[in-house]
Amino acid sequence: MKPRHQKFVATVIGALCMAGVALAAGPAKTTKSKPAADQRASLVLLDHERHLVLQEMRNFLAVLQTITDALPREDMKEIARAARTMGSGAANEIPPVTVAKLPEEFKMLAGGVHTSFDLIALDAESLGDPKHTLSQVAEMLQKCNACHGIYQVKVGTEARTKSKKLN
Ligand code: HEC
Repeated sequence: MKPRHQKFVATVIGALCMAGVALAAGPAKTTKSKPAADQRASLVLLDHERHLVLQEMRNFLAVLQTITDALPREDMKEIARAARTMGSGAANEIPPVTVAKLPEEFKMLAGGVHTSFDLIALDAESLGDPKHTLSQVAEMLQKCNACHGIYQVKVGTEARTKSKKLN
């Protein structure tokens, strides 16, 4: 290789090395910035209210566990019984003063889940078709996911449920 070419090759290698170092270090901003904060809208509740809301959530999950346990056994009676405990006719554990703090959209999404449980119970009894029930459960899980994508619960004394950010 002629010296002129050698110099060129060395320059190219040098440039590649520097690019490599820069890439390995990553974009300067992300190395220093904090992990992304939770951007979901905050429901600001008192500690005991948060407890009630989360307890209801765990009840949802427990009932789903019962339903998915009963499905392969095709125990449609058990499915109907379990689903009804979370239906719109079930005793509401959340007091009106807390409900009043929840945004309309939240209440609508929650109502949609209770209605889904109603329908799961009714259809389990009248149709007795496990595949149909399973597709209803999948559809309902979309509603769970939709709400979880929008809201988080924070403990505080001020009702600031409408604020998008509370950092
Ligand atoms: C109307 C809104 C909404 C719907 C519908 C909803 N959730 Fe939640 N869920 C929440 C919020 C808000 C939290 C708290 C999330 C946070 O603060 O990070 C939560 C938390 C939970 C938790 C965690 C409980 C704990 O003890 O920390 C579980 C489990 C859960 N949800 C299950 C479900 C299931 C299953 C469904 C559907 C059958 C469902 N949720 C439907 C809003 C909802």
